[in-house]
Amino acid sequence: MNGKMKAAVCTAYGPPEVLKIMELEKPVPKDNEVLIKVMSSSVNSGDARIRGLRAPFFLRLVMRILFGFKKPRRPILGMMFSGVVEQLGNEVSSFKIGDEVFGSSGSKMGAHAEYVAVKEKAVLAIKPKNASFIEAAAILFGGMTAVYFLEKAGIKSILEPKILIYGATGSVGTASIEIAKHYNAHVTSVCSEKGVELAKSLGSDEVVLYTQQDFRKLEEKFDIVFDAVGKTKKKDSYQILKPGGKYITVGGLDVAKELTSQVEFLKELFENGSLHANIDKTYPLEHIAEAHRYVDSERKKGNIVLKINE
Ligand SMILES: NC(=O)c1ccc[n+]([C@@H]2O[C@H](COP(=O)([O-])OP(=O)(O)OC[C@H]3O[C@@H](n4cnc5c(N)ncnc54)[C@H](OP(=O)(O)O)[C@@H]3O)[C@@H](O)[C@H]2O)c1
Repeated sequence: MNGKMKAAVCTAYGPPEVLKIMELEKPVPKDNEVLIKVMSSSVNSGDARIRGLRAPFFLRLVMRILFGFKKPRRPILGMMFSGVVEQLGNEVSSFKIGDEVFGSSGSKMGAHAEYVAVKEKAVLAIKPKNASFIEAAAILFGGMTAVYFLEKAGIKSILEPKILIYGATGSVGTASIEIAKHYNAHVTSVCSEKGVELAKSLGSDEVVLYTQQDFRKLEEKFDIVFDAVGKTKKKDSYQILKPGGKYITVGGLDVAKELTSQVEFLKELFENGSLHANIDKTYPLEHIAEAHRYVDSERKKGNIVLKINE
């Protein structure tokens, strides 16, 4: 026994109100795990999707098999965290007590709590030197997803790529703008009026308002069309792709892989000032249902973060 902790427990699949704050046993790290005192944890579209079991009908069964039939079998949601290493399993050698870290617990989740135990070899790294715990937790979800999809589209091998980012102002969209700029891309961001300032401030070269203009009919041609909110179809990109250009979307069956190398890359970008945390709102852990409600709205700009042990 390791004492008690506060955690947000998902008591059933359903609306944000299924999340209840409870007192549970603090995890005990296994030999290959570290116990982290969670300082901040982001609430993302992925967490809200699991809570609400939101997926096309045929995928809901897959989700029940993966996450639990009647309710999540791992009842504490939350994947992306920042915090302080508090206890080490017997075999852990790459971290020490007191290290300030950030990372993802992946499908094991458990980060919307005061403590989480994760494998030493999980997606875990020392947090950026210049980041607060809130910022470190914020950059992970959109950042890792953006790196995965943009690399898959071949961003690294195109000289000064022209990229259109559809849905540029969410967690994935905002990170995509800055990561694309890191690769010297010319970025056209598609967003609503509410996102123009943000999209420009992150380096977008052009902004197209989806409320006023049909991006499918733009005259410009792109090397990559990236749908960062999963609201378009491949055929929407046919007229605006260069020959050999790529369409990618977060809305398909491809699930972004999470790697420690991505976290190290995000750390480097944050430390050299090319990536920002883009925090829309923060909430205390007790207000987790409100945080989920805001994520459900699909209107957030960038990221939202729970302040847990801060
Ligand atoms: N496949 C994967 O591995 C993977 C990984 C991560 C995320 N995802 C999926 O990617 C999607 C986006 O995730 P996220 O966390 O970045 O979302 P998010 O932060 O919740 O996105 C919200 C943003 O999207 C904009 N938006 C909403 N509807 C739009 C539309 N019809 N056209 C253009 N922009 C729109 C909103 O701006 P306005 O209100 O101003 O329009 C808002 O700023 C989610 O569905 C998530 O499940 C998939």
